[in-house]
Amino acid sequence: MSRPQHFGWFLARGFGPHGWGYPSLDWDYDWTRPDLYQQSARELEQAGFDFLLIEDAPSLGSERTIDLRVRHAFGGPKHDPLLLAPYLFQATRTLGVIPTVNPAASLPYTAARQFATLQHLSGHRLGLNVVTDTGSARHFSDAAPLAHDAAYDRAEEWLAGLRELWHSWGDGALVADPASGVYADGGRMDAVRHRGEHFSFDGPLNALPFPSGDPVIASPGGSGRGLAFAGANSDIQLALAPLHEKSVREYRARIHEAAVAAGRAPEDIRIMFAIQPTIVSSRDEADRIVAASAAPDDATLVQVARKQSSDLETDLTALDLDKPLDVAVFGDHVSHGSIRRLTGDRDVDTTPLRVHLTALARLGRLSDRSGFVGTADEFADLIEELGGWGNDGVLLWGDLHPVTVHRTLDELVPVLRRRGILRREQIDGGLHATLRAF
Ligand SMILES: Cc1cc2nc3c(=O)[nH]c(=O)nc-3n(C[C@H](O)[C@H](O)[C@H](O)COP(=O)(O)O)c2cc1C
Repeated sequence: MSRPQHFGWFLARGFGPHGWGYPSLDWDYDWTRPDLYQQSARELEQAGFDFLLIEDAPSLGSERTIDLRVRHAFGGPKHDPLLLAPYLFQATRTLGVIPTVNPAASLPYTAARQFATLQHLSGHRLGLNVVTDTGSARHFSDAAPLAHDAAYDRAEEWLAGLRELWHSWGDGALVADPASGVYADGGRMDAVRHRGEHFSFDGPLNALPFPSGDPVIASPGGSGRGLAFAGANSDIQLALAPLHEKSVREYRARIHEAAVAAGRAPEDIRIMFAIQPTIVSSRDEADRIVAASAAPDDATLVQVARKQSSDLETDLTALDLDKPLDVAVFGDHVSHGSIRRLTGDRDVDTTPLRVHLTALARLGRLSDRSGFVGTADEFADLIEELGGWGNDGVLLWGDLHPVTVHRTLDELVPVLRRRGILRREQIDGGLHATLRAF
């Protein structure tokens, strides 16, 4: 038997029309209503998943590129996942829910109070995926956006502020003694006077302290500064790296070093690698799907170009597929990492755009580690292998449609359970308790 690992689901297109463009998902669910997510959340809980994490970006992008992002709903609209969380807690009993939050978007006192309220309402099942997107800054103030690392500095100050407020009720401050009639002892509360670089506020917080720990902190940043943030602050790091032994071990070592540098223990953080699998019933079917993707037609390439146009905020669909890409089409706002994801290691000056898009459209087999199309057994082999390298868990990536959830989990869950990788029992006591159960 293998040792158990943690499993989370990542709703990667956020709380929006996430199934848009996939006819097989046309089941008349209304993405603006809670039912679709409640149904899926119950399935994830039943499957033994620890949490559902919901992507978010508060902005539709710049005026110039808005159409690219909304036309096929890749970049918006998106409703606020924090406000979906109570409906998901209501529909489940042990599942953690982790909405994405951006420290630029809410002041520490408001944020601390809202999160404290949800932490109590949910029985300690709230997590926060802290991201530092700077492109949306103009929606929250007229100040210029912060540089990449400065946004992380602000996030650290914001989170430290939240924790000061959450802990502003000292030991014994909550009395709740019917005999004396005393509810709370104001003398045991910390007034909190925070005067920082980015925020100034006073406490104490007008919300009760937590008997079972603060909300869980998750982070997805892959930059050097992002890994340092995770080491110092996070309970969960969402990891994106090639799933080879060397890169997995190196990634884990970097997070662990960052944790130790911040005075924490490596086991304080669960590192969960993000994977988007296509699970099919037989090896033959997997081979057929991969073979069929080898020579994508133009309609498929246009679909890939649309998604890239949204991510890169640059209209690739207007370019000639048979000419090399002129990188000057990308404005300064486009991240170099995103451009590299499109062009790979190919020579940009000589390679036609068609070749880059074809590479993205092609699928690979899980069995030879060239991609993520495979059977449940092959996928379990990969997770078992990751576990052998010390891995803590896996984040499955997709929309949150019952069809997708079933396609992914129906055969996988029994296989993982038989191998002892996925827990069978529900864990009470909140998300910290679940993450620390093994
Ligand atoms: C699994 C995963 C999930 C992510 N989720 C978000 C998200 O919800 N919102 C967002 O703005 N960025 C998201 N990111 C992108 C960035 O990691 C994030 O914006 C971060 O704060 C800055 O990252 P960096 O340290 O890699 O520059 C995600 C990345 C990964 C790998």
